[in-house]
Amino acid sequence: MKNTNKCMDVVEKDTAIISKASRAPYFPLVIKNGRGSIIEDMDGNKYIDMFSSSAVLNTCHSHPKIVEAIKKQVDNYIHFSTDYMYAEPQVRLGEMLTKITPGDFKKKVCFGLSGSDGNDGAIKLARSYTGRSKIISFIGAYHGSTYGAISLSAISLNMRRKIGPLLPEIYHMPYADCYRCAFGKSKESCSLECLEYIKMAFRNYIPPEEVAGIIIEPMAGDIGFAVPPKKYMEELYCLCKNNGILFIVDEVQQGFGRTGKWFSIEHFSIIPDVIIMGKSIASGLPLSAIIAREEIIDALEMPAHLFTVQGNSTCAQAAIATIEVIENEHLIENSMVMGEYIKERFKRIKKRHELIGDIRGEGLSIGVELVKDRITKEKDTEAAIKICYRCWEKGVILIFLAENILRVQPPLVITKEEASTALDIIEETIEEYVEGKISDEALNVVKGW
Ligand SMILES: Cc1ncc(COP(=O)(O)O)c(C=O)c1O
Repeated sequence: MKNTNKCMDVVEKDTAIISKASRAPYFPLVIKNGRGSIIEDMDGNKYIDMFSSSAVLNTCHSHPKIVEAIKKQVDNYIHFSTDYMYAEPQVRLGEMLTKITPGDFKKKVCFGLSGSDGNDGAIKLARSYTGRSKIISFIGAYHGSTYGAISLSAISLNMRRKIGPLLPEIYHMPYADCYRCAFGKSKESCSLECLEYIKMAFRNYIPPEEVAGIIIEPMAGDIGFAVPPKKYMEELYCLCKNNGILFIVDEVQQGFGRTGKWFSIEHFSIIPDVIIMGKSIASGLPLSAIIAREEIIDALEMPAHLFTVQGNSTCAQAAIATIEVIENEHLIENSMVMGEYIKERFKRIKKRHELIGDIRGEGLSIGVELVKDRITKEKDTEAAIKICYRCWEKGVILIFLAENILRVQPPLVITKEEASTALDIIEETIEEYVEGKISDEALNVVKGW
C-alpha cells in the first residue's frame, strides 16, 4: 500500500469545504507538481498522466516555454481591461487563431473564460445572426455548466434536476454513435437512420426555417468517443446549408491537436460556421474563444457578450506560446503517431480479453469500451471503476466516462517509453481484474459521472 496521508488530509478538508456539485470523484490524488507527462502527488508518489486534466494539458505539465511566456507577462502586468480598452496579446492571439482554424475567409474572435461560456456565446451568435430561436444538439453531449451549456447538454439528470427552467427551444437528437446505434443498426445495415431522424423532426415538429444552429462535437468526448461516419457529417452539413442553419462545432475537448489535427472537424471535408474552443487553448489557464465568419460575430451588438477578464493578457500569452509549442514541437504529428501506437496496444489486449468491446477515437483521444458481453454490449462499470482505481494505485492516471469507457487522453508530448510503461500497467491491471484479483474497495471511492 502506498502512502497517501498528505493527500488524504487535503481530501478530507476539501470534502468539508468544497461543493459536491463541482466534482465527480475518482481517486484521492492531490497534485504537488507536474512535468511533461509525469505528476507527483503530495506524498511523493509519481504517475504517468493518461488524462491531461480532462484534455486541458495538451502541451503537458508546466511546459518551460509556456511557463516562460506567463512569467514574462506577469512581470509586466497581469491583466488590464479589454472590455473598455485594448491589449496587444489578445489581438495577436486572435490573429493566430483565425489562421489555424479552417476556412479561408474573414473571421473574428470572441474571448471568454471557459468552454461553457463559449457555448453560451455560440447560442447567442446563432440566434442573433439568423433571427431564429431553435437550436439542435445531441443526446449524451456535454457542453458545459452555465445555463446555456447545460441546456445544450444531455448527459446527466443530476445536471438538470432542480434548476429549471433551462433555455427553451433546444432539441436533442441521437448522435451518430455507431457502436451503440440508437436505431439498433450495424455498420453493414446502417442507412444513416440518425440523420433521417433529424429530417423526420424537421418534417413533423421542428420547422427547419426556425432553426438557428446545430451544435455538435465532430468527435464526441463525453458521448463516448464516438466518431461519426464521414457521410453522416457531410450530409448533416448539407442539411444545415440547405436550410440556412449554422453548423457550429464544439472543439473544447477535441481541439488543439488532440485528435491528430488542429481541430477534429478537419477529419471531415467541412468548413464550420462557428468554432468554440477552450480547455487546452491556454495550457491550463482559463480562456475560451469563439471563432466565426466576421458577419456572424458582428451580429451581436455591444455589450451582448463580454466578461471582465476576457482575453486576459496572461492567458493570451499562454495561448500564443501553446500554439507555438504545438507547431514547433510537432505535437499534432506526435498525437497521430502515439495515438496509433496506443490503439494497437489496446487491440492486442482486446484479442486476449472479451472485456474490451470496442476501441475508437483519433490521435490521442481514445476510448476503450469495457463490456460484460460483446454481443449484448452490456456496460461493465465495475470493471471501469476497479481498473482505473488500480491503475492509480500503480502509478497511472486514467479515468472513465459514459459509465464504462476508459478515457485515454495523455499529453500530446507523451513519449513511446512513457506510453509503453503506462500500457504495461493497464494491461497487467486488466488481467488482474479478469482474474478477480481487484478488491471492492474502489467501488466506495470512485463515483465517476
Ligand atoms: C466538449 C466540451 N464542451 C464544453 C465543455 C465545458 O468546458 P468548461 O468546463 O471549460 O466550461 C467541456 C468540458 O468538459 C467539453 O468537454
